Amino acid sequence: MSDIPAAERASRIEYAIRDVVVPAVALEAEGHEIIKLNIGDPIAYPGLPTPRHMIEAFQNSLENGETGYSPSYGLEDLRNAIARDEIRKGWNCTSDDVYVCHGVTEALQIIFAATLEEGTKVLAPGPHYPPYMAYPQMFGAETVEYRLDSECGWQVDFDDVESKMDESVRLLVLINPNNPTGNVATKEEIDRLISIANQWPNCMIIADEIYDGLTLFGDSTSVASRSNSVPVFVLNGVSKVYYAPGWRIGYMALHDPANRLGEVRDGIERLLRARLCASTPAQIGYLAGLELSRDWMEEYKQKIIERREVCLNRISQIDGLEVQAPGGAFYMFVEITDPIWAENDKQFVLDLLYEEHVLVVHGSGFSDEFGRGHFRLVYLAEPEILNDAFDRIERFLQRPR
Ligand SMILES: Cc1ncc(COP(=O)(O)O)c(C=O)c1O
Repeated sequence: MSDIPAAERASRIEYAIRDVVVPAVALEAEGHEIIKLNIGDPIAYPGLPTPRHMIEAFQNSLENGETGYSPSYGLEDLRNAIARDEIRKGWNCTSDDVYVCHGVTEALQIIFAATLEEGTKVLAPGPHYPPYMAYPQMFGAETVEYRLDSECGWQVDFDDVESKMDESVRLLVLINPNNPTGNVATKEEIDRLISIANQWPNCMIIADEIYDGLTLFGDSTSVASRSNSVPVFVLNGVSKVYYAPGWRIGYMALHDPANRLGEVRDGIERLLRARLCASTPAQIGYLAGLELSRDWMEEYKQKIIERREVCLNRISQIDGLEVQAPGGAFYMFVEITDPIWAENDKQFVLDLLYEEHVLVVHGSGFSDEFGRGHFRLVYLAEPEILNDAFDRIERFLQRPR
């Protein structure tokens, strides 16, 4: 008998970051050791563990029997702590605006489910974190990419945004700091994006700020803090800044300065109730992260800055590679200038994996149009490992073809 057909929407889903893991796992099964610089999970790299006090709070919650369902929108104490944190970032957030989810990824699915339908669009940066392309189509919508400028630190190309705005754009996305480029948007750029959205009455902004505490030099600007008319979905969580991605806790906070999200909010709340709640012990762990001292963050940040320096130095000395120095998150989006590979970044990634056992992600996996000819490197590994990886990349590029 032939296979039972899958829904077409599922067959179309791609997630490049994890797709390249399949051949790497096969090589590992043959006994090879792979230097993995592909996944944006800080726990996968030594020296950046989840802080002790957060783990203890999580563990204590288990001991105390706090293992039941939580309220669907999140534990009240956590919603309050998140609201206080958003107030610190500059806008008038209340606990009622905060909805705790199984990570930003679940928040995205809920926002898309509550706002998109056939014929609507999401305008997202190109290159971008893949779910922004994968999920909207499940709701009949389309993702259109606006250009990030590869020659100019991957800043937003505002002319391109403006030329792609129309009635059907429901969500304009800013990932700040950006994955995969590490670009950090300035206050002026954020204001400009808000003023573009403001010209389209049904357009809301998604501000994915999951790396905001990893702005390496200076502060990052909260999009919600700058908007006095356009609705903003603020996204953040425990995965990156609090080094606990496996806990699967994140949130959306709704900034609705002109009071226009009543229906959307109702839809979001219905969807949240239908999926019960996020993990209770993990919420308690996150609460400890928000409420206790954050002094530890500076030491972590310094390690990341040191590792960034190693990569920038090495890339500047390798023929065939160039990079725009990132200001946030822990990614570099490296241009492959070597003409042998520039047109085929996926082959570059696969051949590098097979020949030198270094795993990075092809840029076209983050945008076919704007990511081609690049690869994304996660620079969280220890300096010796990074140097070893760059020795191998250099040898790979020098090999006669
Ligand atoms: C821009 C961006 N948003 C969201 C996520 C995922 O967030 P979460 O772990 O909270 O689902 C990632 C993970 O890499 C990301 O890069």
